[in-house]
Amino acid sequence: MIALGIESTAHTFGVGIVKKNGKILANVKETYKSMGLVPRELFDHHCKKAALIIKEAFIKANLKFEDIDLISFSQGPGIGNALIVGATIARLISLKYNIPLVPVNHCLAHILIGKKLTNCKDPIVIYASGANTQIIGYENKRYRIYGETLDIGIGNLLDMFGRALGIKFPAGPELSKIYYKAKNYIDLPYTVKGMDFAFSGLYTAAINKINRVNKEDLIFSLLHNAFAMLTEVAERALSHSEKKELLVAGGVCCSKPLQEMLAEMCKERKIRLCIPPNDVLVDNGTMIAYAGFFSKPVPIEKSKIKPKQRIDEI
Ligand code: FE2
Repeated sequence: MIALGIESTAHTFGVGIVKKNGKILANVKETYKSMGLVPRELFDHHCKKAALIIKEAFIKANLKFEDIDLISFSQGPGIGNALIVGATIARLISLKYNIPLVPVNHCLAHILIGKKLTNCKDPIVIYASGANTQIIGYENKRYRIYGETLDIGIGNLLDMFGRALGIKFPAGPELSKIYYKAKNYIDLPYTVKGMDFAFSGLYTAAINKINRVNKEDLIFSLLHNAFAMLTEVAERALSHSEKKELLVAGGVCCSKPLQEMLAEMCKERKIRLCIPPNDVLVDNGTMIAYAGFFSKPVPIEKSKIKPKQRIDEI
């Protein structure tokens, strides 16, 4: 069985071709880079790139449309104008080649590919990307959200803060490098409410300190607080659930400072920390293709995009 997956929830248009055993045959993507994500521009970008990316994926995999057993696409959550491009193309291919069509939850896809590639069984998951920040676990036959951001996603925090410092999108990689150059911690808000967290107070306080304190120290302190909030809530979820694995998902989890903080916590609690390769931490078509094996095909009329879909609804 071979699946073709299309990812188009936000800045990335990605196409993956994967076997049911997890073997990746192609993983091709283009990411729209600008200082912000304008929905109309995302739509244009994905429309322009789609055909070339699909063609390149088939060349890499050395396959044809006739070899594909199912086609999956990101149904949500995401930006409507971006989602609609992947969904429309998936429907078109499904109709033209008579291939079963499988809508996929983007967040679940991150988790399924992460579990497969790190060989982890029943983890607590930190899902940290641009717009999404959640602590997730599987309980009573469905994924539950144990904690989540009450305002912005952690990736949005990093990108907005980076933008104010003139760092280009995505700001996470550059900020994570500067993190190690700091000498002092600057006091900034740390907002954990029960199992949830919030980042906008941290953002505002940090913005107000730009040009008044050392830039490297400010970057270190913002990242340190934001990552510590995630680590604290993940630790509490691990303690409550008695699960023994922590899986990370989402582009923000490529950050070395975050990975090191989690590794320290996991070592203390004897938890196995599962970190998939960066290729699948960031948005990609591979995970969408792979997740297609875990859901049932739907008729075209039931394949509507769901920009606000949550993992605990599916
Ligand atoms: Fe993602």
